[in-house]
Amino acid sequence: MTHPASEPAPAVAAVVVLAAGQGTRMRSSVPKVLHALGGRSMLGHVLAAAAPLRAAHTLVVVGSGREQVRAHLAEVAPAARPVVQEEQLGSGHAAEVALAAVPDLEGSVLVVNGDSPLLTSRTLTGLVAAHDAAGSVFTVLTAEVADPTGLGRIVRDEHGAPRAIVEERDATDEQRAIREVNAGVYVANAGTLRRVLAGLGTSNAQGEQYLTDALAPLVAGGAPTAAVRAEDPDDVLGCNDRRELAVRRRTLNDRVLDGLMRDGVTVVDPATTWVDVTVTVGNDTVLEPGTQLRGTTTVAPGASVGPDTTLVDCAVAAGATVVRSHCLGAEIGPEASVGPFSYLRPGTRLARGAKVGAFVETKNAEVGEGSKVPHLSYVGDATIGAGANIGAATVFVNYDGVTKHRTTIGDQVRIGSDTMLVAPVVVGDGAYTAAGSVITSDVPPGAMAVARAPQRNVAGWVRRRRPGTAAAEAAAAAESRAEAPREDRDEPSRANSDS
Ligand code: UD1
Ligand code: CA
Repeated sequence: MTHPASEPAPAVAAVVVLAAGQGTRMRSSVPKVLHALGGRSMLGHVLAAAAPLRAAHTLVVVGSGREQVRAHLAEVAPAARPVVQEEQLGSGHAAEVALAAVPDLEGSVLVVNGDSPLLTSRTLTGLVAAHDAAGSVFTVLTAEVADPTGLGRIVRDEHGAPRAIVEERDATDEQRAIREVNAGVYVANAGTLRRVLAGLGTSNAQGEQYLTDALAPLVAGGAPTAAVRAEDPDDVLGCNDRRELAVRRRTLNDRVLDGLMRDGVTVVDPATTWVDVTVTVGNDTVLEPGTQLRGTTTVAPGASVGPDTTLVDCAVAAGATVVRSHCLGAEIGPEASVGPFSYLRPGTRLARGAKVGAFVETKNAEVGEGSKVPHLSYVGDATIGAGANIGAATVFVNYDGVTKHRTTIGDQVRIGSDTMLVAPVVVGDGAYTAAGSVITSDVPPGAMAVARAPQRNVAGWVRRRRPGTAAAEAAAAAESRAEAPREDRDEPSRANSDS
């Protein structure tokens, strides 16, 4: 039932996503369809899968947690229209409510459960194509599964034609043995579906109006119907509790990683590598164990990410390396190097060949070509030119308690270790700062800024104030060696030992 990729995808007049159920088994304050896997909500996955069907109307039936679902839709699918089902009287009632919102709709409508996050466009277009080809008025997607527990069973007649969908709770023992199940995805003629739903009763174990009960009366009335098996049974798996959510997430991730590996990405340990469906990775990139790539992250060819690295909404350019780091909204330039143990926050932009090293945090910071922030620093609200070196333990002091200020560092600057750059401040091209300086005013190009108290040694302080300590003993020994004539010393001279 695959739809050939060369032809334009078959279209439907409307897509209806059923998403009003409470999702009791999730035990959550968040509506079930908003639970996320692989970088999208379940609802988001369903909508993405249906997108190629080019429906003029996309209706999402909302009920439980409707405000949350509405807000989510406004964010991820503003063209989709929420339709309220006040009381959750069953999937058939939900579909009826949706169709009532588009009273003039004609043609085919795809109705799909909102909790089927593994559905693919390929499966949906295949289903619609099969429906069209069969001249069917009601077509249900099915799958053969190893364990059909809890799902509706597809009852076929002796010729293999579908006769009914029977919910597990209402099934006979014989029907329960059937392993072909209802995927919760249907294509129907809008007018036919409207009519049959209006006649549905609630005489079943749950006292609900089942969408699945639409099939049997159509068959009885001699209408052309069809039941089409999905090629990949994983596609149709629903998600009712957190255990299933974890299993679906794993399946989805495996699919994403398989795709990346086919495209030439090395995934060293698929079991610990998690990549959202929205991420792109170039060929010859290596993803080391414990890597998570999320959101809009893009990784160019020939980069290396991980081990133990999380990138959210980041852009990693070709040949860059990111090791054991956590990066949010950062742009990591070509051949740049990050980590181990770096924290890159939004607005970080590393130019070609820049380096951010161990225990460095950056935010709103541009690090110029070939510049280095190798150790133990905070770089916030900064512009650093090319070829600069920021000494260990430098802090860009950007916050005065009320407002954030910016620091500008020129090209080829050398910031001494433990410099405090109190923003707003500008350090000119080629300037130096002395280690331990607190820089509060601009440094002209080429100057050496020294902003620290001169050193004072209080001679004999330890002998007087800490008598009897190991320090005092060591000091006394050093002093007596210094007083002894040179030829009595048994260690080599300082000049020799220094070489
Ligand atoms: C449903 C099917 C079952 C199928 C399974 C596939 C029915 C009666 N049964 O069972 O045959 O094998 O999906 O996963 O349809 N919903 C509403 N309003 C309601 C009730 C439900 O919008 O009043 C929505 C839910 O949010 C959900 C979908 O309809 O997205 C299906 O409901 P759910 O309770 O999950 O049905 P299942 O028991 O999974
Ligand atoms: Ca379900």
